[in-house]
Amino acid sequence: MPSSIPNLLTLRGRGGSRASRGRGRAHPDAHDTTIQGTDTDAAVSRLSAVHCGYLTDPYAQFFVSADGGPPTRRLPIINRGTYTRTTALDRLVDAFLDGRGQRQIVSLGAGTDTRVFRRFARGETEGLVYHEIDFEVISQKKMRIVRGNPMLSRIMGEITVSEDATYWSSDLGTRGEYHCHGLDLRKLVDAGESQALIPGLRTDIPTLVVSECCLCYLATEQAAAVLAYFHNRIQSLGTVIYEPVLSHDAFGKVMTSNLAARGISMPTLDSYPTPTDQEKRLSEAGFHGSVKAMTVGDIWRRWVSEDEKTRLDSLEGLDEVEEWELLAGHYVVAWGSKGLDVQGWNELPN
Ligand SMILES: C[S@@+](CC[C@H](N)C(=O)[O-])C[C@H]1O[C@@H](n2cnc3c(N)ncnc32)[C@H](O)[C@@H]1O
Repeated sequence: MPSSIPNLLTLRGRGGSRASRGRGRAHPDAHDTTIQGTDTDAAVSRLSAVHCGYLTDPYAQFFVSADGGPPTRRLPIINRGTYTRTTALDRLVDAFLDGRGQRQIVSLGAGTDTRVFRRFARGETEGLVYHEIDFEVISQKKMRIVRGNPMLSRIMGEITVSEDATYWSSDLGTRGEYHCHGLDLRKLVDAGESQALIPGLRTDIPTLVVSECCLCYLATEQAAAVLAYFHNRIQSLGTVIYEPVLSHDAFGKVMTSNLAARGISMPTLDSYPTPTDQEKRLSEAGFHGSVKAMTVGDIWRRWVSEDEKTRLDSLEGLDEVEEWELLAGHYVVAWGSKGLDVQGWNELPN
């Protein structure tokens, strides 16, 4: 039954903020606070997938408060979804970084995502310029955690904070540079020619803009304008977007009403209802190279090896095959490029 299935972002029945509960869309500020809370959901899901053996990520534990108890354990289908989404994005990002010469990543709504630590800890980054953007409250939280944690501090080196404290960065020498911006992405919509909103942004090197469940929270026009901000400035550009689709079927309706009960709306769900619409979205935004959108279900089937599936299945067992199919069919990973050929993307099974 679709109504008994949680979505990948959160668990069914989890309450929203007092301001938003039961009132559909909340007051804009309360809405922002609710959206910021989705980062905690993502961090808890990541740790659950690590704890249950799906993912290896020594950094995930630092971004979830322990409260003295064991980590929250998500349902097996949620863990599998987190695994598939994380490894798919890793694969697309790795392929992008595989190219020759210096590269830049811009992660929109990065939250307390750990990909940046995994990447810089792994080395072989050769001058990588890595930007993360999220609301100020989230970027400040990330800085506090990094500063207070010896393992993360070792990876990120010495941190410099901007005078107005909205932006922090770190020069990692030959390994590259890291920039974390406390910025509401909607400010990019009317940025005009201004370059100052994202200090350190390079416009002269191949860049990958990643939205792992972020642009879906913006109004469709705003989400398009954010992509256009980068598109208009950077010649060699790729993008990878992960977000839900198919709001119009029975499962999708439950998914959107669960979100609405928490005061969350996802405008792009209605604007780009299918994977094909997501491909069209990227083409219309000017990405004409390797444009592709695949559901999490298709990625699980085609990108995860049989050996890996066997390993993952042995972790907890997954009886809810039908529920998994439904859930995984409602999330999509879309990617595309312009002025840039990402060889590895052309070789992915589809
Ligand atoms: C579901 S979380 C995903 C976090 C991270 N990308 C991940 O996958 O683990 C969505 C993130 O997008 C951020 N976000 C949403 N709207 C934003 C906006 N207008 N400006 C900056 N960040 C935003 C939220 O604060 C939150 O951290």
